[in-house]
Amino acid sequence: MEQHELFTLARVLHVLAVILWIGGVAMVTTVLIPAIKKLASKENQISTFEQIEGRFALQAKITTLITGLTGFYMLYELDAWDRYLDYRFWWVHAMTFVWIIFTVILYVLEPFVLHKVFKKYANKNPGKTFRIMHRLHWVLLTISLITTAGAVAGSHGWFFVK
Ligand code: HEM
Repeated sequence: MEQHELFTLARVLHVLAVILWIGGVAMVTTVLIPAIKKLASKENQISTFEQIEGRFALQAKITTLITGLTGFYMLYELDAWDRYLDYRFWWVHAMTFVWIIFTVILYVLEPFVLHKVFKKYANKNPGKTFRIMHRLHWVLLTISLITTAGAVAGSHGWFFVK
C-alpha cells in the first residue's frame, strides 16, 4: 500500500469512528435519556440507563481510541503540528479538546468516580440527576457537532476565520 493510500485509509477510519462515536452520543442524548425520564420507577430508570449506556461506553472507548490514533497519525504524516500555533486551525484544537474530554470521562472519571456518584444521586433524587446528566450530554453533543462541522470545512479549505 502506498503512503497516500495509507493516509486516506487513516482518514476513512477516522471518519467511521467519529460517526459511530458521536452518532451514539446523539442517540443517547436525543432518544435514550428522554425515554428513560418517562419510565415509572427509579429502579427501572437506573437499571435501564446502566445497561444501555454501559454497553455504549465500551463502544465509545474503542471508537475514541481509533479516532485519536488515526488523528495523530494524520498530523504526523502531514507534519502539521504547527497548526496548534495558528488560530485558523481552531478546528484542530477543537478535535483535540473534544477527544481529551471524552477520553478522560470514559477511561478515568466514569469508571472511578462518576459511576458511584450517579448511583448515589440517582437513588436520592432521580429527576434532578437525569436532568443534569441530560444537560451535560447536550453540551458534549453540541461541541462535538460544531467540531465535526469545523473539521470537515477546514479539511477542505474553508476556515470561517481569515
Ligand atoms: C486527538 C484527536 C484528533 C486529532 C489529532 C485529529 C486530527 C485530524 C486530522 C489531522 C485531520 C485531517 C485534516 C486535514 O486533512 O487537513 C482530521 C480530520 C477530521 N477529523 Fe479529526 N482529529 C481528532 C479528533 C477528532 C474528533 C473528536 C472529531 C469529531 C468530533 C474529529 C472529526 C474529524 C473530521 C470530521 C475530519 C474531516 C474528514 C474529512 O472531511 O475528510 N476528529 N482530524
